[in-house]
Amino acid sequence: MLAVYAASQSKDDPLSGLEIGERPDREPRPGWTTVTLKTAGLNHHDLFSLQGVGLPADRLPMILGCDGAGIDEDGNEVIVHAVVPSEGWQGDETLDPRRTLLSELHDGTLAQKVLVPRANAVPKPAGLSWEHAATLSTAWLTAYRMLFSNSGLTPGATVLVQGAGGGVATALVQLGSATGYRMWVTSRDEAKGQKALEIGADRAFASGERLPERVDAVMETVGAATWSHSVKSLKPGGTIVICGATSGDAPPKAELTQIFFRQLRVIGSTMGTRLELERLAQFVVQQGIEPAIDSVMPLEQARDGFAKMASGELFGKVVFTVS
Ligand SMILES: NC(=O)c1ccc[n+]([C@@H]2O[C@H](COP(=O)([O-])OP(=O)(O)OC[C@H]3O[C@@H](n4cnc5c(N)ncnc54)[C@H](OP(=O)(O)O)[C@@H]3O)[C@@H](O)[C@H]2O)c1
Repeated sequence: MLAVYAASQSKDDPLSGLEIGERPDREPRPGWTTVTLKTAGLNHHDLFSLQGVGLPADRLPMILGCDGAGIDEDGNEVIVHAVVPSEGWQGDETLDPRRTLLSELHDGTLAQKVLVPRANAVPKPAGLSWEHAATLSTAWLTAYRMLFSNSGLTPGATVLVQGAGGGVATALVQLGSATGYRMWVTSRDEAKGQKALEIGADRAFASGERLPERVDAVMETVGAATWSHSVKSLKPGGTIVICGATSGDAPPKAELTQIFFRQLRVIGSTMGTRLELERLAQFVVQQGIEPAIDSVMPLEQARDGFAKMASGELFGKVVFTVS
């Protein structure tokens, strides 16, 4: 089958290890189902895998991709849940210390087919397009858990999202504004700030700009480059929910004094559960949310999508169509 896979890894030139070509179909496994993909989505995780972050070199070649939607072996339209718990794990799979994401241990979704545990094939609601279904499993699920399970916020709160253009960031803005939060964004690029206003943000600021007032919560995915600004932008007792550190995980200042003196809360957040993915999909359909998509391209042209992400030019998600 056609697949997009990591053949080698390079921190400085991640695209050098990207291959698009034939890979063998996976052998069926009891309790698992093969999903024939219609669409698949790109995440920063895929770029990190090519850079050697989170994917040990001895597991190569590895088919990339965490997001996808298609038809399972029984003919059901499904969204693929990317969090694979270890054998026998009970409860919240994101808390399983031995969980993996598709493309870390098991082949991922940037292919014509993907083999997943049956429980990871989540019903796709009627009314959700294949393109939109391919955006939900990772960035959108992560944004859902950050906002609704981990932030402790109630509607009316003001929330700052660092970095307007990313997949998680655009999901946060769209989910938050649909829920009645006042969503503010920062961006390195004024044009992306403007686009964030079009999808529901209330105000857009330049990265690092002083805000007109402090906020109730900050959603962090950028890490080192924005950490100090996030801490300084919070009201006393406010919350940072952090799910990523795209610009690095060692900020020049940890801001520990600010954190304890103003009694800030720092909450880590990773992916979401199968139930949260089901609810996210329902919520998107109920609210008529159309996830921001930067571009749709055939899987054969996946290299263009990776190059766009590597250059930081994206606004929203890259979706691949699979034939
Ligand atoms: N823990 C989890 O489960 C989980 C799940 C999903 C994602 N993540 C992590 O969250 C992060 C974002 O993922 P994504 O897929 O949304 O990535 P993406 O689409 O490539 O977005 C990158 C984001 O980083 C922002 N950014 C701002 N300053 C930056 C800087 N100095 N260097 C690089 N980027 C900067 C960009 O905003 P502007 O261009 O607008 O400034 C953009 O919002 C990644 O680190 C990813 O690994 C974690």
